[in-house]
Amino acid sequence: MDRFLVRGGMPLCGEVAASGSKNSALALMAAALLVQGTTRLRNLPRVRDLDAMLELLRALGAEADWDPADEHAAVIDASRLTRPEAPYDVVRKMRASFMVLGPLVARCGVARVSEPGGCAIGVRPVDQHLKGLEAMGAKVSLDHGVVEASAPRLRGGRVAFDMATVNGTQNVMMAASLADGETVIENAAREPEVVELANALCRMGADVRGAGSDRVVVRGGGSLRGVEHRVSGDRIETGTLLIAGVVTGGDVTVTGVDPSHLEAVLDKLRETGADLETRPDAVRARAAERLAGVNVVTAPWPGFPTDMQAQLMAALCTASSSSVISETVFENRFMHVPELQRMGADISVEGRAAHVRGVERLAGAPVMATDLRASAGLVLAGLAAEGETTVNRVYHIDRGYERIEEKLRSLGADIRRER
Ligand code: EPZ
Repeated sequence: MDRFLVRGGMPLCGEVAASGSKNSALALMAAALLVQGTTRLRNLPRVRDLDAMLELLRALGAEADWDPADEHAAVIDASRLTRPEAPYDVVRKMRASFMVLGPLVARCGVARVSEPGGCAIGVRPVDQHLKGLEAMGAKVSLDHGVVEASAPRLRGGRVAFDMATVNGTQNVMMAASLADGETVIENAAREPEVVELANALCRMGADVRGAGSDRVVVRGGGSLRGVEHRVSGDRIETGTLLIAGVVTGGDVTVTGVDPSHLEAVLDKLRETGADLETRPDAVRARAAERLAGVNVVTAPWPGFPTDMQAQLMAALCTASSSSVISETVFENRFMHVPELQRMGADISVEGRAAHVRGVERLAGAPVMATDLRASAGLVLAGLAAEGETTVNRVYHIDRGYERIEEKLRSLGADIRRER
């Protein structure tokens, strides 16, 4: 298993390009299943989760692979779907695979997708996805961990989600694009990845309105055509790289991203005293003398994103004052806390709130990555710590960050990968 060796203390300075959004790409790859034709996605990050999704699409009968002419593009031809089944060993590895359920039942009339099961950060049920498909007339059954959804023809319906679910909203939006009639999604998720999918679906010929608000209306019925779509820059990778600059006392500019996709993160970094500047397709962060502690509550869009919680916590460990970080989206997303404590952080967790008291410096130590964003947080802590930090199990990071060690090294970080 690969690990990162990080030697802290170097201020990170310079400019780096964000890769395309992993989470947008995953939904767009699932959307390609709706089309009896070819979809081409550009500006994709070369990360393991996308390899896994392409492998799943091939298992369903689509032709799907990276474009030999462009390493950041993929071509998906879903004209023939021979086997609408997503097996456990694929879904287990990457829960976003569950997003193929909606497109498959809409396209093939029946689909079987293994229930994703929980993961490190929480139980993560899929009941809302199923509620949405049932609202469109699908018969849903769960048998031995496999979800089967069937409907000779989906018809428009109305679903009110119990909570904002990003992939749930996307799954239902995609199915509704091929259903007969109008589907209304109340309490829809409002994330940029939902808006980007809706825009792509409209370009494919669907009629999706209200994406970005909590009420989305989809008028389905026609068939969809394949399009070429350039995926937007990854807002979470951008936030991670900006914090790398802030936590090391540096000055980092990230290009290829829409700053409006991470406003809550930029506002919170300003609150710590960092100096943030934005351009139409870039963000620059300069560190303050020393970060001030801040309170943050993760929330669905437009709140502070849960996917940035570990990264911000890593930065607040050496703030000049205390912080309270509340994680309201997932029930178990503090696994990075014990690892940060090994580095000398002063954190106490009470339920969903982590109380962080700033210390002068963290000390490098061997730490263990547990999930994608926690791993990124540990790398950030290592960049600011005294001495060397070894981050083990970096396959977590490779799932969602393209060559992060090369990007950080280009900014002056002392980090290398050890096989
Ligand atoms: C997406 O996951 C992202 N993944 C996650 O990013 C992100 O953390 C999450 O949205 C929240 O922003 C992708 O887009 C591939 P949810 P998703 O459904 O859609 C509960 C990363 O690091 N819920 O919005 O699966 C759920 O348990 C990943 O890139 C139900 O109860 O998250 C959670 O508490 C990690 N029933 C809350 O809703 C359901 O049917 C929000 O989850 C669905 C969700």
